[in-house]
Amino acid sequence: MRALVVYESMYGNTRVVASEIADGLRVAYEVTLVPVAEATAELVAGADLLVAGGPTHMHGLSSASSRRMAEKAAAKDGSELRLDPDAGSPGLGAWLRDLGHRDGLAAAFDTRINGVAAFTGRASRPIAKLLKRRGYRLVAAPESFLVTSQSTLLDGEAARARRWGMTIGAASKTYSPAHT
Ligand SMILES: Cc1cc2nc3c(=O)[nH]c(=O)nc-3n(C[C@H](O)[C@H](O)[C@H](O)COP(=O)(O)O)c2cc1C
Repeated sequence: MRALVVYESMYGNTRVVASEIADGLRVAYEVTLVPVAEATAELVAGADLLVAGGPTHMHGLSSASSRRMAEKAAAKDGSELRLDPDAGSPGLGAWLRDLGHRDGLAAAFDTRINGVAAFTGRASRPIAKLLKRRGYRLVAAPESFLVTSQSTLLDGEAARARRWGMTIGAASKTYSPAHT
């Protein structure tokens, strides 16, 4: 059984979370972890479980302009933000909209600032919606992993991401449509 973990990341938080989720999934799956630019149709076609995640920008998925804002923030004098090697690749939103229709299993996650989701927004919601629109059934509710306002992953979130990977791996093996 194969799982594909696809992520978008500007500053590396979502990449780290995606990598932990991939490690958690390895208990149950042979896992491929790729940034969105490398997530080919062939990889998608070969996956029994698709897990997709990205950073929350402006309460939802990133856009070309929010990604430019992220780049500008990192380029500012004195900024401690570092652009990820895969930053600036096509956004996850466009990738999901181009995704072929498939009756497959999936899960959605995001990273976002620590706070009440009603105020911060959460990209995992639109990611889940787009996955469902493409025919995928969600094996778990969309999940957020939290960063500080300076975009540093909170203590314990990497470990929680690994556990979430294990949880969705197990849930997908005994799939129940309760979460769709
Ligand atoms: C342009 C921009 C807009 C953002 N908007 C939000 C937001 O609306 N809500 C939120 O919780 N976090 C927001 N953030 C913070 C990011 O979600 C957070 O830093 C995330 O962990 C970044 O992930 P990455 O390191 O994988 O790029 C924003 C960050 C940027 C650069």
